[in-house]
Amino acid sequence: MLAIIGGSGLTKLSNMEVLRREVARTPYGEPSGALIFGTMCERPVVFLARHGYGHTIPPHRVNYRANIWALQQAGAEAIVSVASVGGIREDLGPGTLIVPHQVIDYTWGREMTYFEGGEGLVRHVDFTHPYDEVLRQRLLRAGALAGETMVDGGVYAAAQGPRLETAAEIDRFERDGADLVGMTGMPEASLARELDIPYAAINVVVNYAAGRWSSEQGIRMDEIEAVLHHAMGRVRGVLEMICRA
Ligand code: HPA
Repeated sequence: MLAIIGGSGLTKLSNMEVLRREVARTPYGEPSGALIFGTMCERPVVFLARHGYGHTIPPHRVNYRANIWALQQAGAEAIVSVASVGGIREDLGPGTLIVPHQVIDYTWGREMTYFEGGEGLVRHVDFTHPYDEVLRQRLLRAGALAGETMVDGGVYAAAQGPRLETAAEIDRFERDGADLVGMTGMPEASLARELDIPYAAINVVVNYAAGRWSSEQGIRMDEIEAVLHHAMGRVRGVLEMICRA
């Protein structure tokens, strides 16, 4: 079964036929909200809103461990993450859809592993390629089927938030090699890897990152809202094509 984790602007899938909801419990606490089981183009799918259904959980407080654990328990065989980001590169302007291929993790203080030592074995998972390449290609094909141009590849900088970055921080991320910046990509991706669940993301650029082009003087929330609303409609169209891709 395919799992979809929706971010800001995507707390439900209008093209999903909902069959049931389930409040899951895990050894790591409660996930962000109920798991919504249903079908999309006649295939089973489970959906979870990362920030809760009322959008009340900020990025640094999302219980990533409980979310990924609950999805695995529910039978998720692959996880597609949808999340909004800021564009660092000039060609990644608001409205761009991108399927990243690499991650740099700048987050801190989050519960980020299932392998805490103690009773369990110490394990070091391979994370050279953080996103599953087969799933990435499938997302790109789904985009093409939906008539959307999606950028293939990009380096995602996972920032701590919840505040946006300073212009100097964005300059640093770019020097490090980052193309886009978001707040929720980690530890979500590495936890999925720890549980051996293929994971890939569709990132929606909703603003230029701090200090860049239209964000040179600051980032306007009303502009983000407007882009988000329209772009998530397009993402729904892409998700609908995954089962054909
Ligand atoms: N920075 C970090 N996260 C984001 C941004 C940003 O500019 N836009 C949307 N998510």
